[in-house]
Amino acid sequence: MQQVDVGLGKRGYPILIAEGGLAGIGKDLGQRRVGNRYTIVADSQVAELYGQQLLASLAATGLTANLLTFPAGEANKNLATIADLASQLARRGTDRKDALIALGGGVTGDITGFLAAIYMRGIPFVQVPTTLLAQVDSSVGGKTGVDLPEGKNLLGVFYQPACVHIDTEVLATLPPAELLNGIAEVIKYGVIYDADFFAFLRQNRPAILGLDRVVLATVIHRCCEIKAAVVAADERESDFRRILNFGHTIGHAVEAASEFAIGHGQAVAMGMVAVMKLAVAKGIFAREAADEVRQLIVDFGLAPVIPAGLDRQAIKSFLSTDKKAIGGRPFFVLPERIGTVLITDAIEEALIDQVIA
Ligand SMILES: NC(=O)c1ccc[n+]([C@@H]2O[C@H](COP(=O)([O-])OP(=O)(O)OC[C@H]3O[C@@H](n4cnc5c(N)ncnc54)[C@H](O)[C@@H]3O)[C@@H](O)[C@H]2O)c1
Repeated sequence: MQQVDVGLGKRGYPILIAEGGLAGIGKDLGQRRVGNRYTIVADSQVAELYGQQLLASLAATGLTANLLTFPAGEANKNLATIADLASQLARRGTDRKDALIALGGGVTGDITGFLAAIYMRGIPFVQVPTTLLAQVDSSVGGKTGVDLPEGKNLLGVFYQPACVHIDTEVLATLPPAELLNGIAEVIKYGVIYDADFFAFLRQNRPAILGLDRVVLATVIHRCCEIKAAVVAADERESDFRRILNFGHTIGHAVEAASEFAIGHGQAVAMGMVAVMKLAVAKGIFAREAADEVRQLIVDFGLAPVIPAGLDRQAIKSFLSTDKKAIGGRPFFVLPERIGTVLITDAIEEALIDQVIA
């Protein structure tokens, strides 16, 4: 078992990483006394795969738990799902001393965290991420929320979990395309924060794609360390935390313009390649370094270019309505070297047009 602590004082919490860790969650929650009773929230697919295993782990320690499900997919990360789950909690008599457990990918984590934050003005919750993306990124840091028809993640709050349990074994059932979504975020950490980690990813690519246990645990541990350090320095994204958005400004616009046919990580990979072009054009980032990152993205099997068929006007309009844009001006995270980035909104429109063309 490896542990990373998110240093947020009273709101701080541990991230516990273990192979086969699902089995030990009941014992750990029994010791931590996160809630009197537990409701596991999972999407239909993850409930089928791991719901009974987690229920059994809690029951083995004498904890009372039940399972609520919703249909899998980003399209269900909305208020209707929140309302439905909240009604079910109320009907089952869930009270303020009970806790929720998010078992699943980023969609489940965002929904469950938001529900925990607003049900009876806030009850505790635990993250049990089951996609690589959720294990290295979305389960840590307390961003929760749902989408509106008008845009992604437009409703939400910062609400930190009581702890995060990562079982690396569950990645064995993850479809390859979902693994790649997570890989894009993993590469992001190397570029924004840690050149040695970037080199490690280059050296260990086959082992990572082959789900080598030791290498994978090292990757997840390092990503969680970086995310925890960034979140501890700037919990509410007033400035520094924005570095985590490398590739995301354009990536989110691509994701939205494709009506979510392009997955989050895949879109982020395209966004990273596009902003590196901005950084090279501005003379901030060396072309050779940009080529090195692009090559790693390609070697992992991620597409580096925005598909030709995707409407550029739609991408541009999503860029200006991005929720992080101020006065319609999006900001960009540009690498200076591998391992260091800067944040700017001073990019000419013509240059943006050029890189997304
Ligand atoms: N809160 C944050 O900080 C943050 C950060 C990044 C992304 N996000 C959000 O995360 C979401 C994307 O997360 P995601 O990519 O995990 O998507 P997801 O939760 O939809 O999971 C992807 C698919 O994988 C399936 N799945 C999950 N675990 C599995 C397993 N172990 N085996 C087999 N199938 C499994 C799910 O059922 C789903 O169909 C987006 O909504 C994004 O906005 C949030």
